[in-house]
Amino acid sequence: MTAPLTIALSKGRIFKETLPLLAAADIVPVDDPDTSRKLILDTNQSDVKLVIIRATDVPTYVQHGAADLGVAGKDVLLEHGGEGLYEPLDLKIARCRLMVAGDPNHRPRSSRPRIATKYANTTRRWFADQGRQVEVIKLYGSMELAPLVGLADYIVDVVDTGNTLKANGLAPLEHIADISSRLIVNKAAMKMKHARIKAVMASMAAAAGA
Ligand code: ATP
Ligand code: PRP
Repeated sequence: MTAPLTIALSKGRIFKETLPLLAAADIVPVDDPDTSRKLILDTNQSDVKLVIIRATDVPTYVQHGAADLGVAGKDVLLEHGGEGLYEPLDLKIARCRLMVAGDPNHRPRSSRPRIATKYANTTRRWFADQGRQVEVIKLYGSMELAPLVGLADYIVDVVDTGNTLKANGLAPLEHIADISSRLIVNKAAMKMKHARIKAVMASMAAAAGA
């Protein structure tokens, strides 16, 4: 008898890019989250389930053991803090960069510029580490809009091609971190289900070229 496994994934880019890595571990979902309304997806293995949640919620589910494993962007993990988790494997998918961005010609009116971001903790840390005073404005998406309408002087967001910034007259200004998605593992599950998790990790690592 092998231990049952629950794996937390978000829809969209992470689900799509994780599929081939799971397939390498012989885990193939039966349903497609883009068409199904189910939140728990069965797989070809009766004791392996996928839970489909918001990207920012993946570390929380794994931290509390509601999922044994998960796939989360390093941006999300930096923001979460990583408590209760192991982060053993860089899957090298969903690669981008966490950046400070804005209009390079903009001059903030205050000595304490306003930064709009969904990465409030990481942003505070980035500026505090450099002794720079900022006011962080927490948003949940479409950060690029904030400087255009005067809500903020700058943003902190992930950048890939730079097309979204460019389309809104903004540019990358400061590089905070290179981002890719990581396999995360609940600490207790890593002990209790070690053999099975190790086998899944080995197959995913080989497929990811890690
Ligand atoms: P939520 O639904 O919680 O707001 P989200 O919309 O950010 O999450 P996705 O857009 O699927 O979720 O992004 C998931 C992860 O993919 C991010 O955490 C980041 O690591 C990475 N990512 C985000 N945007 C890009 C991009 N344009 N190119 C490559 N990777 C990206
Ligand atoms: C992400 C991010 C940026 C964009 C950057 O949004 O929030 O807006 O990608 O990518 P680019 O540099 O290639 O333009 P996403 O497309 O995931 O949409 P979202 O708002 O649903 O997160």
